[in-house]
Parts: sequence; C-alpha cells; structure tokens
Amino acid sequence: MSLLPLVGSNTQVPLLDGTTRTYANLDVAASAPALQSVADRVAEVLPWYASVHRGAGYLSQVSTALYEQSREQIGDYVGAREDDVTVITRNTTDSVNLLAGCVPGRVLVLDIEHHANLLPWHRVAAGVSVVAGRDTLAGTIAALADELARETYALVAITGASNVTGEAVPVGEVVTLAHAHGARVFVDGAQLLAHRHFSLAESDADYVAFSGHKLYAPYGAGALVGRRDWLDVGTPYLAGGGAVDDASHDSGIELVETSWQPAPARHEGGSPNVIGAAALAAACTTLGGLAAAELDRHEASLRERLVTGLTALAGVEVVRLWAPEAERKTTGGEPAEPVGVVTFTVAGIEPGRVAAYLSAEHGLGVRDGRFCAQPLLKRLGLTGGAVRASIGIGTSVADVDRLVAGVRSLVEGDVRGEYVLVDGVWTLAEDPRPLVGPAGLTRLADTAGSCGASV
Ligand code: ALA
Repeated sequence: MSLLPLVGSNTQVPLLDGTTRTYANLDVAASAPALQSVADRVAEVLPWYASVHRGAGYLSQVSTALYEQSREQIGDYVGAREDDVTVITRNTTDSVNLLAGCVPGRVLVLDIEHHANLLPWHRVAAGVSVVAGRDTLAGTIAALADELARETYALVAITGASNVTGEAVPVGEVVTLAHAHGARVFVDGAQLLAHRHFSLAESDADYVAFSGHKLYAPYGAGALVGRRDWLDVGTPYLAGGGAVDDASHDSGIELVETSWQPAPARHEGGSPNVIGAAALAAACTTLGGLAAAELDRHEASLRERLVTGLTALAGVEVVRLWAPEAERKTTGGEPAEPVGVVTFTVAGIEPGRVAAYLSAEHGLGVRDGRFCAQPLLKRLGLTGGAVRASIGIGTSVADVDRLVAGVRSLVEGDVRGEYVLVDGVWTLAEDPRPLVGPAGLTRLADTAGSCGASV
C-alpha cells in the first residue's frame, strides 16, 4: 500500500508469457515516480507560466513570485537557517559541481560515494583527498578523524545514505568531528532525503544537495542549500543572463568585464526552471507532511522483509559496507539504520541477466551495474556489478514478495526466455512482447550507460 498517491502506480507492462502485470518499480533510488500532488501542482501552475526575473507582465510577476516562494519552501524542507541560501539546480550532480567552484580549500571525501559526490571535487583548486572506507562504521569514522588530524580541510563531503547499500551515515557525528577540525560538512542528500527527514539547522551540517527526480518530483530541478558566504563569492556556476550584475565589452577585444550577483542569482544563469522548482517545492510540502516515524516504519519493515527473503536463497548475497554495528543508535540518538536500498549478487548469474529476467518474466524494475559508484564497487570486489532493489513510499509488501519470488525462480532455474549479451547489454534473444508506452514511442532502449556493468 502506497504511503502517498503516485502517478502511474497501476501501469501495466507486457511479460514474456504474453500476459501483462502491474509494473513493480523497485528502482526508485535512481528515479522515483511523480507524486500525484506534484503532478497536480504542475498542471495548476502551467497556465501561469511566463518568464522569471525578466518581465513586467502579470504572468511574469506570478511566475517570479512562484519561483521565489518555491525556493523558500525547498529551503524550509531541509531546515535552512535564516542566513542559508537555496540555489535551484538541475540535480545533485549539478549542485556538487556548483559547490566545488566555491570551496576555499581542500576537500575530504570517502570512497563510498557515488560519482556525483566524488568527481566534482577533483576540480577544486586546492585538491581532494579520498579516504577508503573500513569494514566498520566506527573504523571508517576513525579513518576520517585521522585524516582530519593530519591535514587541514575546508570541507568534508559525505553521503547521508549510500546509493549502493542504503547504509546511513550518522551525519551529526561527522559534523561534530569535522567542525572540531575547522572543516565544514556537505551532505549528499540524493538518497537520504527520499527516505528520511533531514534538517541543516538540527544536524548543524553546512550544506545539503538533493534531486527532484529522486524526491518524487521528476521535473528537472534539484537544490543546493547552505551557508551563504562561500556561495556569494565562489565561481559563478552558470555564466549568463541573470547571474551578472553588470557586463561590458570592448568591441573587438576579448576582455569582458563583469560584476556578478551574490548567491543564489550568481549561480542561476539563464531562464530559471520555475516548473521544476514548483514541482520540487510541492514534493517537499507533501513529504514534509508525512510523519518521520511512519516513513521509517514503512521502509524498515519492507527492507527487513527483502533482506531476509533474499539471504534465505542459495547463492544470493546482500552487499554491505559495514558490519552490522552500523545499525547501532549513535550517541546522539541519530538513527544509523540503512534506508530502503538493497544491493545483492546471485552466484553464477550476471547482474544484467538477473535484471533482464526480472523485467521480462516478472514485470519488476531493478537496477543492475555499478550504480555510478565504480570506486566503491571495485573495492568491494564487484567489478562485474550487482543488482539493486530500492524501496520507496509506493512500495508494497506484495512488490517485495514478488521480487524475492522472482529471484527464487531464477535460482531454481525456472527461466522461460533465452538471454544473450548484445553490445554489453543482457537482453532476450527473441522478444515477443508488444511495444507499449506513450503515443509516438517507436522502440525500447537498452539499459546500458556509463555506469553499466555488463561490459
Ligand atoms: N545515484 C544514482 C543511483 O544511485 C546514480 O542510481
């Protein structure tokens, strides 16, 4: 039973045996469906759509007000302090790249991160250090402490919850540690915020970034929220109209003199995505209305059911970063239990083949590959990738049981189709399923991408 109404929760997909089934979306960690309230809000604001920060017409005034009001709601959702800035971005990756242009010193990061919270830091002029995670959470935090004692850092960038294993990091503990060494803390909220409430003010973290497409608002907006000073003077992220206060150009000479706006305008060159911002704000309002305990209960029970079901199957192993002590309550009482993201391997069967089978024969959507976290997958010895199932507000007990039953059938050899590797992607040798989808769709895509694992 979905905690909140979602768009498309009854979408039927064709199966190999000629029947159809309701799609069970267990890939919400990558992209979550829209909340019905978000889609309704978008439909409501579209007739009022016009230019933002650029027009004197009535609809421009409405759209500009809507954009700025959405900014406030998004900031409120993550507990922004009075002097914090909310920059509307495209997604978490965009947000981290933006912040990387503003950090006035070295960055410290763990190797457990997805690419979005690793690669941008390599662009920081003062450099980045990557510390390998240890077998326990306590050991990993001790490794961070050692590094902070050894060298001066401006920023510690840490995920709130791993996009590979769902294991949560006790943010408060990292904040206390980093602040004691004069470093600020950036929290990658890409996974965490779809699963847990989070507050900058309560955690004392300095920055947080997140994506609308993981927060049930897939309309192209995300956010970076945090301390104003660095953002006010850092490299303008998108040079262009709106970001600049004054620009002059000597004809025929390359020099363009500019003076830039302070944040957030400094980083929001070009026409703002007001529809995306309104969608993200609507998601924040709807999710903010869910009791934290209700969200935790829903997820914890489904995750436990999934992990118990999978680990009971021969040859199936659930991937963990840390020994189970990670599930301890931290001293501050902050939950460190994993969020609803579960990655597993099936002995002797390639992850891409598992995912193709679950889709074609069970109507299940999971992700396979290296989850855009290749350094971590390498350290864990999973160079061939793994399979990830993720639980969200729309996931039911029936979805979880269907996944476990599907993996059981696979392990027991109950497979109808012939699966082959074509250009690095596992697919049906012959696919008799009819093409269904929105009008005008001409074909299905394969699922390989730069984070794929099959090759
Ligand atoms: N962080 C994205 C995911 O986990 C890439 O799917």
